[in-house]
Amino acid sequence: MPALAKSDRVAVIGAGIMGAGIAQVAAAAGHPTILYDTNRTALHRGIQSVREQLDKQVKRGKMTSDAVNQLLANLRPADQIGEVAGSHLIIEAIVEDLATKQSLFTQLQRFCPPQTILASNTSSLSITAIASALVRPENLIGMHFFNPAQVMQLVEVVSGINTSPAVAESITATALNWGKRPVRARSTPGFIVNRVARAYYAEALRLLEEGVADVSTLDAVMRGGGFPMGPFELMDLIGHDINYAVTTSIHSAFYNDPRFLPSQRQKELVDGGLLGRKTGRGFYDYRDNAGRPQPVTAPPGAAPPAVEIVGDLGAAESLAEMLAESSIPVSRKPGTRGYIALENGQIALSDGRTATRRSLDDGIPDTILFDLSVNYAKARHIALAPGHNCSDRSLAQATGLFQKLGIQVAVVDDTPGLPVIRTLCMLVNEAAETLLHQVCDAVAIDTAMEAGVNYPLGPLAWADRLSPAVVLEVLENLQRSYGFDRYRPSLLLRRKAETGGRFHDA
Ligand code: NAI
Repeated sequence: MPALAKSDRVAVIGAGIMGAGIAQVAAAAGHPTILYDTNRTALHRGIQSVREQLDKQVKRGKMTSDAVNQLLANLRPADQIGEVAGSHLIIEAIVEDLATKQSLFTQLQRFCPPQTILASNTSSLSITAIASALVRPENLIGMHFFNPAQVMQLVEVVSGINTSPAVAESITATALNWGKRPVRARSTPGFIVNRVARAYYAEALRLLEEGVADVSTLDAVMRGGGFPMGPFELMDLIGHDINYAVTTSIHSAFYNDPRFLPSQRQKELVDGGLLGRKTGRGFYDYRDNAGRPQPVTAPPGAAPPAVEIVGDLGAAESLAEMLAESSIPVSRKPGTRGYIALENGQIALSDGRTATRRSLDDGIPDTILFDLSVNYAKARHIALAPGHNCSDRSLAQATGLFQKLGIQVAVVDDTPGLPVIRTLCMLVNEAAETLLHQVCDAVAIDTAMEAGVNYPLGPLAWADRLSPAVVLEVLENLQRSYGFDRYRPSLLLRRKAETGGRFHDA
């Protein structure tokens, strides 16, 4: 089945945040578009919000008034639900409730021609379950847009057990014509993004609960890793009620698998009504004059007079180039495991062990571990963790070394797997599980995480860059340290690591 033609009519039901944005996308693509809502005030607010969006585009010089007028001419509100009959595609963005959605689609199938494609923007309900109430379940598909729909590129095209492959192909091609980056997935809990991204919040919450660092410091080091927003500022933006509800629903959908264990700390915020930006307080305080806490960074340290790089620094090899361009004399020596040798100690990329464990294993008391970054040259903050017996002098040298490279240092508690590397490895692990369970393919996962949550690299591409063996080692070390099933490596990751395989073809 081909993509919708421009002249094909599209209807959007539910004129809230998502429905209005989706209607704007369809109208911008040239379709005659109808927007309907049971609540007339909401309907007019929806149309108004599209107008306001477009006005902003004109003011910013991103759209001409002609293009705006054209788009608005394609969009009209409907007074009666019956007006959506005759649409080729009807997208639902109403309240997130199974019975309400089933009842709407049943009603639509009663008065629409049999070939009408029905799409749900649900973020958490099963497409198979919604379709179970329908006479023609093959015509129902998930079309999961991200907020704001007119801006975010990702659309998860979700097939239930009965969805016709031809419908999925047509919707994928249509979304592509709308300028989106569609990815196809089977209807499984959380689809792709909401499932894989759980680790981004869960590891940060765990580190906070264990007192590894404060909110603002953890956010800064995660941004230093390459993520566009720190986990706490992001949860505050999403709203803790929503973020916590997604976690609990996925945790229960996976039969309480500890990989998805919700956080008591986040529940406390929900219970206390501290839902984030929308209520003025969450992890941060957004009220007037509240100010923003700064990350806790180390005072200037005396950089070492010279360093020797032993072996290859692997994922941190770019640090060698940065050091070579700095004023610190650098020499290199072959070795099996990469580290930066100090006068009396070592600095190494975290491998999931604590610095203390590593110093005992290596017999080097002055051991300092550093965290991962997708691009050290752009990192503004990095986490360092000294082992239990590390001298103040070696820690100051390690600090001074990163400061010389223009990176601010946050000295955090000696936790197994520093914030970025442990979070990334858990994201990779969930991505590998998603792939192993045939929810979608590897390209879909990476596209989803880049286009849906703006990660700097898809987790599987990032794993290939690090090598699956390194990710496996970090997870095994985390699992050993915690004795917790949560960190058990995916079978697929283990296979890739053991066979020297990659997730994407080179
Ligand atoms: P919203 O609360 O802003 O809007 C929902 C609208 O649907 C309201 O205007 C309401 O009057 C209308 N409505 C409710 N029942 C209706 C019915 N039976 N017939 C017609 N209109 C009805 O909600 P929002 O945030 O736009 O979410 C809509 C859907 O999109 C939900 O399924 C949600 O899970 C999903 N979603 C939400 C995202 C978000 O970030 N807000 C992201 C992706 C999906």
